[in-house]
Amino acid sequence: MILKHPCFRTLAALALLLPVASAHAQDPESYLDDYLPVDNALVVDVPEAVQSADDPDVKRGRYLVSLLGCASCHTDGALLGAPDSDRSLAGSRVGIAISDPMRDRYPAIVYPPNITPHDETGIGAWTEDDLVRLLRGGMDRHGGRALPVMPWQNYARLRASDALAIARYLKNIEPLEHRVPRRVRAGTPASAPYVHVGLYQRRE
Ligand code: HEC
Repeated sequence: MILKHPCFRTLAALALLLPVASAHAQDPESYLDDYLPVDNALVVDVPEAVQSADDPDVKRGRYLVSLLGCASCHTDGALLGAPDSDRSLAGSRVGIAISDPMRDRYPAIVYPPNITPHDETGIGAWTEDDLVRLLRGGMDRHGGRALPVMPWQNYARLRASDALAIARYLKNIEPLEHRVPRRVRAGTPASAPYVHVGLYQRRE
C-alpha cells in the first residue's frame, strides 16, 4: 500500500545518480557517464517528539512525516543510502542537482535544509502556519516559491488538519544544530557531494 502513495511512486521511479570523475568529462553528450547509480534510503526513521509527544496531532504528524518520506531528503547521507539516524530531519550535506546534467557540466545544486526547530540552522523561526503554507502551496516563509525539488506538489492535497499535524510535530522535535551548504549556482563546482534526481527519456 505504501508504495502506491504518489510520493513513494515518485521517489521509486527516480534514478539517483552520483557524479564521478570520468574521461568523458569534456563531451557534453556524455555527461551522464560522469555519474554512478546510487540507491537512496526510501525509509528513514524519524524522531519521537520531545515536547507534547502525546498530543494526537503531534503523533499523527510523526506518522505522516515518516510515511511521506521527508527524511529521505532532509537527513544527511540518506540520498546516498546511508542516513545518519542520529540527525534525522536535520538537513542534508548531500545536495540535489536542479539543472540539466546533460547541459551543465557543473549543475546548480540545492541542499535539503534542516527541518528541526533549531533557531539558527533549522525552522525555529517558522510558525506552524508558515509550514502549512509551504506544504500545501509551495510558498516559503518570505512569500517566494519553494523549488519544485521539494515535492510540495505531491503534498498539496494534504488535508489542512494533516498539514497542521506535520507542522506541529516538526515544531516539537529536538532542535538539532546542523547547517547545510548554501545553494550552488550552475557553472560553479560544488564542494559537497550531490546527486541528480531525474527521469530521462531515451533518445530515438
Ligand atoms: C525529494 C526531496 C525532498 C523531500 C521528499 C522533501 N523535501 Fe522538503 N525540501 C527539499 C529541498 C531541496 C528544499 C529546499 C527548497 C528550496 O530551497 O526552495 C526543501 C525545503 C523544505 C522546507 C523549507 C525549509 C527552509 O528552511 O527553507 C520545509 C519546511 C520542508 N522542506 C519540509 C518537508 C516535509 C515536511 C517533507 C515531507 C512531507 C519534505 N520536506 C519532503 C527536499 C525535499
